[in-house]
Amino acid sequence: MSNEEQLSLFDQSALSASTSGNVNTELIPTDAKIPILPGTYDSIVPIAQHCNVCHRCDLGATRTHAVVGRGNPNAPIMIIGEAPGQNEDETGLPFVGKAGQLLEKILASVKLDTQQDVYICNIVKCRPPSNRVPAPNEIAACKPYLLEQIRLVDPKIILLTGATAVKGLTGNKTGITKIRGTWIEWEGRLCMPILHPAYLLRNPSREQGAPKWLMWQDIQVVREKLAEIHA
Ligand code: URA
Repeated sequence: MSNEEQLSLFDQSALSASTSGNVNTELIPTDAKIPILPGTYDSIVPIAQHCNVCHRCDLGATRTHAVVGRGNPNAPIMIIGEAPGQNEDETGLPFVGKAGQLLEKILASVKLDTQQDVYICNIVKCRPPSNRVPAPNEIAACKPYLLEQIRLVDPKIILLTGATAVKGLTGNKTGITKIRGTWIEWEGRLCMPILHPAYLLRNPSREQGAPKWLMWQDIQVVREKLAEIHA
């Protein structure tokens, strides 16, 4: 299927109808087997429009908003989380709840600005019911959107927060406590698995070796790498 044919599946009337709650579902692809080819999108805006009318998996049936991304779409660092939670589903923005506030603090601690240095998104764009881990078929259905985001943002560094992000993007099933803090290469891109901020919220100790301490080590390494790339 050509890109044009693929795009025509997302009929414009369906896009505007989606805001009034009267979506003509026949016009929206319901089959995740329909490919979304690399190069389909020329900016993030149509990705967001399509995600908001997407039914490639069942998560589309229960979302309030698709959560596509926030930050600088030309940022040198892309942060990929797992999936939207309740706050994100309500606002349409990733990492705006408690985990997101902690993420902001972590970035600020090494003078990284979320408006300038970072673009934040998730492995899946719609909230899984009860915040469960997204299922493999949901990750697969959503992955073309993520791959298009990575292609368009073209980050120098990708941070993968938590095991679902690592496995969802790279297929690497190594446990996050083992793989965090190590640079891995995916499709020629530099990626750093880090702990998920929600995990830090459940483990508040700052002692040496504790999750917060490990995050502090990792984010400094990322900061140094960015300076090296920009030098
Ligand atoms: N956790 C995530 O992984 N992503 C969000 O957007 C919010 C919380």
